Amino acid sequence: MYLPECREHPGKMLPDLARRIVRCYSRRGDLVVDAMCGNGTTIVEAARLHRRAVGVDVEDRWVDLAARNLDHMLDDATRPLARVRVGDARQLPDVLADTTGRVDLVATSPP
Ligand SMILES: C[S@@+](CC[C@H](N)C(=O)[O-])C[C@H]1O[C@@H](n2cnc3c(N)ncnc32)[C@H](O)[C@@H]1O
Repeated sequence: MYLPECREHPGKMLPDLARRIVRCYSRRGDLVVDAMCGNGTTIVEAARLHRRAVGVDVEDRWVDLAARNLDHMLDDATRPLARVRVGDARQLPDVLADTTGRVDLVATSPP
């Protein structure tokens, strides 16, 4: 179960939908990006499916919650696969400069 504070987010992704997208469009070990990650649902589900994952959100409070969801939902084997950071999706070349040319799937649900 995701942390109860997720109810405060107005635009949550359904975990089953995130899993389906990740499973259909990426492989184990691929790098998945959610550029507007909110609670972190997509990167949590990606890591649970053994993908590497990076989430970005412009609001500190959602990045904090996403990081806590990663800690809460993932085990010792999958937690190192996912990370989250504060950033503006309009500046992705800067925000995700360390992933340039290495992203296999972008799965984002914008506001
Ligand atoms: C529909 S929600 C995403 C929900 C997420 N998939 C989840 O499961 O919680 C959209 C998110 O985009 C973020 N956002 C809005 N503008 C943004 C921007 N320019 N850069 C990054 N994130 C942004 C919002 O803070 C919000 O958390």
